[in-house]
Amino acid sequence: MTCLAAARWRVLERAGWDVNGNGLTGAPRIPVFVGAERHDTVDMGLRLLGLGAPITVDVDSQGRILPDALEDALAHGSAGDGPAIVCLQAGNVHSGAFDPFSESIAVAREHGAWVHVDGAFGLWAAASPATRHLMAGAEQADSWGTDAHKNLNVPYDCGIVACRDVPALRTALGMHGDYLIHDPLGDHGPGDPFEKVHELSRRARGVPVWAALRSLGRTGVDHLVSGLVANARELARRIGALPGAEVLNDVVFSQVCLAFGSDARTQAVADWLVADGRAWMTGSPWRDHTVLRISVANWSTDARDVEASVAAVRAALAATEGL
Ligand SMILES: Cc1ncc(COP(=O)(O)O)c(C=O)c1O
Repeated sequence: MTCLAAARWRVLERAGWDVNGNGLTGAPRIPVFVGAERHDTVDMGLRLLGLGAPITVDVDSQGRILPDALEDALAHGSAGDGPAIVCLQAGNVHSGAFDPFSESIAVAREHGAWVHVDGAFGLWAAASPATRHLMAGAEQADSWGTDAHKNLNVPYDCGIVACRDVPALRTALGMHGDYLIHDPLGDHGPGDPFEKVHELSRRARGVPVWAALRSLGRTGVDHLVSGLVANARELARRIGALPGAEVLNDVVFSQVCLAFGSDARTQAVADWLVADGRAWMTGSPWRDHTVLRISVANWSTDARDVEASVAAVRAALAATEGL
């Protein structure tokens, strides 16, 4: 929402409209383009910003936005090079897939759109040489969001925003108080946290992030991220080899989606696992099927956890045989 607020301010400013002064009533419409499998928090952010529902763009079998479909949608849904926002995704919650950034951003640029990347967990792929290629081209975007409470494993509510357009971020979200110490460089300086988010009083979320990054270092973060991916791959390999099991996604990052013959059996396996409690994997609908969804997110997951998880799924399969 923070990035989209900056985007809203900037694309309207380019269209000659001051949203801070005039609000949205009478403003040029801002179409927002998203892949059909974006996370619902994007819609929530847009709703709170008064931008309404996004325009959904077709995706491929892994949930990646189709650049040609984006081109079509922009050609029909935006007013020439009028205000427009494109939200791309780094890390699909089911497949872990990454949107094709270079092609999609090139298309968005032709229409003068602001490009935001939702990389809640996937942005961390860039921190590991083993997965960095998944993020290729994403650096050309205007803004990026990620969560330190996901892959970095710091406590919850630790969202991180990166925004190329600092004046837009500061103007959209900064607030003034005579009693506060403001960035002496004004809107062009880096700004204090309260000058860049919609909260004023907030705890020092940056401290655990700094501590985690400082203690892990680049190599430690790389090992953390690549460890999650290695465990996901091993889970996919081992569970996929069980009789009746099928891995549905290309396991490029930390997500694995599995099916066991029929939707009914897959749901029964998921229910059995949740009741059993040894491994946390849940059922989810994906591409018109019920899947068992695995998201490896915890730094402490190791080979024993993988072993225990495979054993739990094996037991779930035995308990649901014949369904
Ligand atoms: C791709 C994606 N975007 C956004 C979110 C929302 O993040 P949060 O729950 O931290 O608000 C999540 C996960 O919850 C996610 O996986």
